[in-house]
Amino acid sequence: MTTYEAIDVRPVTRRIGAEILGIDLSRPLSNHQAAELRDALAHHQVLFFRDQNLSHDAHKAFGRLFGELAIHSGVPGLPDHPEIVAIHADETSKFVAGESFHSDLTCDAEPPLGSILYMPIVPESGGDTVFASMAWAYETLSDKMKAYLEGMTAVHDADHVYRPLFPDVDKKYPCSTHPIVRTHPVTGRKSIFVNPSYTTKIVGVEKEESDAILNYLYRHCMNPNFQVRFRWRANSVAFWDNRGTWHQAIWDYFPDTRSGFRVTVAGDKPF
Ligand code: SIN
Repeated sequence: MTTYEAIDVRPVTRRIGAEILGIDLSRPLSNHQAAELRDALAHHQVLFFRDQNLSHDAHKAFGRLFGELAIHSGVPGLPDHPEIVAIHADETSKFVAGESFHSDLTCDAEPPLGSILYMPIVPESGGDTVFASMAWAYETLSDKMKAYLEGMTAVHDADHVYRPLFPDVDKKYPCSTHPIVRTHPVTGRKSIFVNPSYTTKIVGVEKEESDAILNYLYRHCMNPNFQVRFRWRANSVAFWDNRGTWHQAIWDYFPDTRSGFRVTVAGDKPF
């Protein structure tokens, strides 16, 4: 396990998730802090911060320490801050963002590196987010399944995700093909890179085989042994590495309000 000098990293589990203590994300961070956060993100896969106070500008400035900010290809951003998406649910909501397990925007040709969710308003109970390590999921596959998946690709389509949510929007949503097993550009770890939200089929096999393999992988990836569950408090921040994780927002607090803002950091082409 890496030793950090400029940040205080407390793993939540040995497999995924770490809380970062003693850091104020609204203030400029030193190069040393930023470099260690990048390393901690890659190794712990999701970082949690408590008691933050982020203006939209500070939120974006923090995101830019990790790369360019991406404009969400499915959901419109705030009018004055197109890089920020509101994550909001209340007594009028018919759905919430991210209700089933997914990695963000795998429909994009270059899916995000990660996302930073700041949550100023939380319900009195419920509203957790579950994160799952797709690196652990890959590493615990049988050697035979790893060999089968080697070199295979799958299609990730956004149309069936966003068109029903925004029936009045007339736009073409992205659809991309990616390797089923991707390699993390920082750690070199392999992870499973299909998910039940965006992935529609495995390339080069019949639909029945594609469905069977994807269902097997999804059941395997949902093993709670690969998960960490984040209990939000008002003003918490979660920063997940989208290159090797899934997440799911738990909507068990209706009709209460849960409200926050998300910035997405651009990523690169999976390999
Ligand atoms: C998302 O998928 O970005 C939403 C996560 C959450 O609201 O917990």
